[in-house]
Amino acid sequence: MAHDESRYPNPHTFIPERFLDDDGSLKPDDTQHLAFRFGRRMCVGRHFADTSVWAVMAKVLAISDILGPLDENGVEIPMEPRFSTGIAV
Ligand code: HEM
Repeated sequence: MAHDESRYPNPHTFIPERFLDDDGSLKPDDTQHLAFRFGRRMCVGRHFADTSVWAVMAKVLAISDILGPLDENGVEIPMEPRFSTGIAV
């Protein structure tokens, strides 16, 4: 469902702007909580998880510069973001 081409063209490409309106506000998206499933057995920790991830991301973005690798002159090497599972550091 999260890779539905009719809703998310080119779904495996990292295009976060796809979720924004022309004025920069978030588009309504009824699948944004898909990770927590739905129905009677949906995740009971979803609000806690959502707010925790938001708080961590806000702190990381406030104190960090997130850059790609730098060459020997300190110039950022362009990267093509690709999806993979797990965490890469
Ligand atoms: C990003 C974090 C999380 C994700 C992606 C996630 C995802 C899920 C999913 C997919 C289910 C299964 C729903 C189903 O069977 O239809 C589930 C169930 C559940 N989750 Fe989470 N969860 C997260 C965090 C948490 C946290 C932080 C808690 C508790 C503090 C929690 C407690 C539970 C419980 C108790 C269930 C079982 C609900 C039931 O069977 O009635 N989850 N979660």
